[in-house]
Amino acid sequence: MKPSPSALRDYLLQPQESVLPLLAEQVFGRRAPLAVEVGFGGGEYLDWWAGQNPDWDFIGIELPPDCILRAARRLEQAGRKNVRLVNGDARYLLRELFGAGSLQHVLMQFPMPWPKGKHAKHRVSSPIFAATLADVLKPGCCFELVTDQDWYAQEAETLLSANPALQVLSLKENPKRPFRTRYESKWLQEGRQIYRLLVTVKTSIPAPRTLGIQAMETLHLKLTPTPAAIEALRGQRFQQGNCVAEVKEVLRAQDGWLVRLLAADDTFSQLFHARIVLKRDERCLLRVDEVPRPYYTAAVRFALASLGAVLQESI
Ligand SMILES: C[S@@+](CC[C@H](N)C(=O)[O-])C[C@H]1O[C@@H](n2cnc3c(N)ncnc32)[C@H](O)[C@@H]1O
Repeated sequence: MKPSPSALRDYLLQPQESVLPLLAEQVFGRRAPLAVEVGFGGGEYLDWWAGQNPDWDFIGIELPPDCILRAARRLEQAGRKNVRLVNGDARYLLRELFGAGSLQHVLMQFPMPWPKGKHAKHRVSSPIFAATLADVLKPGCCFELVTDQDWYAQEAETLLSANPALQVLSLKENPKRPFRTRYESKWLQEGRQIYRLLVTVKTSIPAPRTLGIQAMETLHLKLTPTPAAIEALRGQRFQQGNCVAEVKEVLRAQDGWLVRLLAADDTFSQLFHARIVLKRDERCLLRVDEVPRPYYTAAVRFALASLGAVLQESI
């Protein structure tokens, strides 16, 4: 399914740090209850949910751009006006994008369980996620988890109920559900059970945000590093506290070089490019490329500063 450019223009929301937390009234042009679906896959449920609740607004968060494209096309075909999509890691974006008590419902269906212990850090449900829910959900409102893994439902129940702001309302096996996604239908055909955990917020507890609103600096080098010094960046890794930066690729560009970087703040990873722009007067600039535009986290700033320091030393 190929999305038309208008599908992305209409549905993809690309929040900038300077306008966080999101003001849903500005995004949707009205004041309405706001719900979020984490990991909406192809967007079937999100589309159905929005269609059933025209008086609510919905934001879906997904990691692979493919899912964003498919869902945008689906929403465009259905003519939905009350949905937007955000591309990125919901473990962080839920906390960073939404203000305290701004959400009326958060839904996560069939998250990847990451069963191996060494992959547990990828699980969406974690103490940080619990703290996020305790902040962004309006008191009295719910987080709903649907999964086919009983151990995951139980782990989430234990973990979320450990947060003093949250209260587990129910954990049901095979509850009646008004709409089934592709995954749910597949699991049921395979004879699996479905579990639904409902958790409410008793009183909000603020969770600190990490994204600042400072602009991203451009670094100025007095002299241009040699091509060999730039090529030598490939594979370099930098670490400071919770921030890790890794040079994945170094590519020639029309105006200089593009350095493909991975920057991780704890387990929040982003891939982006730093651009080395060669100037006529021997100087050069180093800046974050805007496409794809990363969130300017501490790790992204650290990655740029580390590249700058290595290049400066090489001159
Ligand atoms: C098994 S699929 C289920 C999709 C959909 N909820 C459904 O029921 O059809 C899990 C989805 O969660 C998404 N996902 C996993 N980790 C995520 C994260 N940290 N942030 C946002 N989405 C995530 C994956 O990309 C994938 O599309």
